[in-house]
Amino acid sequence: MSVAVIVVVDDDPSSRYLMQTLLKAAGHEVLTAEDGVEALEVARYNAPDLIITDILMPRMDGYQLCREWRADPTLSTLPFVFYTANYAEDDDEKFALSLGADRFLRKPMKPSELIEEIEVLLHESRGTVPAQRPVKEDETRVLKEYNARLVHKLEDQLTELHEINDVLTDMVNGTVRAIAKLTEARDPYTSGHQERVAAIAVAIAARLGHDAKFREGIRIAGLLHDIGKMYVPAEFLTKPRRLTEAEFAIIRMHPQVAHDVLTGIRFPWPVAEFVVQHHERLDGSGYPAGLKGDAITLGGRILAVADVIEAMSSHRPYKTAVGVAAALDEIEGGAGTLYDPDVAAAAIALFEEDKFEIPPASAEPAFASYSK
Ligand SMILES: [Fe+2]
Repeated sequence: MSVAVIVVVDDDPSSRYLMQTLLKAAGHEVLTAEDGVEALEVARYNAPDLIITDILMPRMDGYQLCREWRADPTLSTLPFVFYTANYAEDDDEKFALSLGADRFLRKPMKPSELIEEIEVLLHESRGTVPAQRPVKEDETRVLKEYNARLVHKLEDQLTELHEINDVLTDMVNGTVRAIAKLTEARDPYTSGHQERVAAIAVAIAARLGHDAKFREGIRIAGLLHDIGKMYVPAEFLTKPRRLTEAEFAIIRMHPQVAHDVLTGIRFPWPVAEFVVQHHERLDGSGYPAGLKGDAITLGGRILAVADVIEAMSSHRPYKTAVGVAAALDEIEGGAGTLYDPDVAAAAIALFEEDKFEIPPASAEPAFASYSK
């Protein structure tokens, strides 16, 4: 075995390092490159004995590198080896060999077998038989096939990403619903409240012309806006009489509690901020921070209006429902002082012009049988 200079091409540093270590241990000199472009530069400057490359890499992939290699008179006779995990089907091998590659090796291989393949190739190329495998195919056909393969692989990867995205979205939705139901399980009288607030808030956002992405953020914030009530003793929430000031003081902590729980979750929207502001009022009379005007986010202002409408339309243990009409009167009366005037106008138009109806909760509350 004599020392050879081998170029190792891989965009993954750990794969590159592994291969380098292996070849050095076998007594060879190793040059490394992160992609096809760098590999060509390194090879043209150093006159190596062999190249071993990954396929999927930025800037120039392994297929293109092979074509350039075989087209370069200074490199074309040197052994070219693919070593790949992503492109390991038989068709990939056929295509790789049609470009002039000497070997198509699939990851992972036993180190001893990998070294043996390389030694055989080095031996062959130093013998009488040149390693050159000129591209015989018609240039246009090869290019077409090459592009088709790339598109196919990208489509596969895109499909896979869509599938992963769907699973993650389902997981987030399932988790959000589970947390919402946990809150409502402690407070059966407000069962479905968060779901209905979410539906009203989304409809207001749509009426205001906001896009689907924003509406999704509002929907999630609506579904979670009262989770801080987990902190409030259940008897305060279900008490069929007026609460004392001390009891109200504890209830008023629920937006901050919800915020502190949600702030650790990296939503693509400021959900924790929307939620903590759902009892803030335009004139600063709300809680927990007494924020005024624009200091309250649009999400917070929409949730505030949706929450009031839903709460006034539904029965509570300490008050009877007054209905949607009275709720809209309250919103109209408070527009510009308590509630954002645009949000208030959109909410009123929603019910009066669009004939919006508050949807019933989609399912029975979780743990209904335990909630007595
Ligand atoms: Fe609330």
